[in-house]
Amino acid sequence: MRPHPRQYTDRPRRGYLIAPHPEHVPGSPVVRLVICPPAFYASAMTDPPPESPAMPVQLGVNIDHVATVRQARRTYEPDPVWAAVEAQLGGTDGITVHLREDRRHIQDRDVERLVEAVHIKLNLEMAATDEMVDIACRTGPQLAMLVPESREEITTEGGLDVAGQLARIRDIVARLHEAGLLVSAFINADEKQIDAAADCRFDVCEIHTGPYAHAFHDHGRDARQPAVEHELDLVRRAGRAVLDAGMQFNAGHGLNYHNVSPVAALPGLGELHIGHAIVSRSVFVGLRQAVAEMKHLLTGPAATVVDPHNAPRVTP
Ligand code: PXP
Repeated sequence: MRPHPRQYTDRPRRGYLIAPHPEHVPGSPVVRLVICPPAFYASAMTDPPPESPAMPVQLGVNIDHVATVRQARRTYEPDPVWAAVEAQLGGTDGITVHLREDRRHIQDRDVERLVEAVHIKLNLEMAATDEMVDIACRTGPQLAMLVPESREEITTEGGLDVAGQLARIRDIVARLHEAGLLVSAFINADEKQIDAAADCRFDVCEIHTGPYAHAFHDHGRDARQPAVEHELDLVRRAGRAVLDAGMQFNAGHGLNYHNVSPVAALPGLGELHIGHAIVSRSVFVGLRQAVAEMKHLLTGPAATVVDPHNAPRVTP
């Protein structure tokens, strides 16, 4: 049986069977890991998750911008590995880095060091190219997320066109699976792309929340405005379709402390991947604190909205 996608946090890396220590307190930023016997692990991989909403949405922190600051001087600081540790101490469930073809921020050596240092989920965002597939297979992050990439863009601009390159993407997903990685597609909230992702056997789809974030910003930061509700509804429907197709529903892009709560409340959502807002806030309050505040928004009351300039103190 295919492992249920919600269980992928426990997927073995580098031949180990890793699970949170039985004494681990959920929500505690300090996660001790144990090596489990395969029998225990097998059941964790196949049992469906409970239907109850007890599973809070998880947070993946994108730390590319830390490397952007370092690359501005081509020096050794700030160190993304240090950032990953701080984010872990702030309570994140995962770390994301995008190794871009032009190496504008994260470098190959960062990925190698992060694979060693990150003991929670490591998500390698990458273009669907042979070079990147080779790097992912060699370094072994937990999740490889395929995104479109162009050199001119400031950040990832749209979802991957899976439907338009089925055979090629299917082959790439198979190669990544063969190396033991789970594979995610960053796609627009578009049924055609979701069907294509299922066809290619992706484990996870991350639905692009950029259009929702833009609508939120353009309509007075008011989630009740019809245009904002419309964009949120597209993400909701896409999430439903992703789950119905047997994949994990993640979302991300453009989310911040103001607009994240309605997205975090979407049914069946697994993870949110957030970078710019958290790293921006970390300049003023530190990364550990910025992560803890975002995590608090995801796990606290659904309607919590933080004014970043007057945020309640959350103890990491
Ligand atoms: N998901 C994907 C696929 C991305 O490319 C990015 C940006 O690197 C993010 C999420 C995070 O977006 P943001 O930095 O706007 O939070």
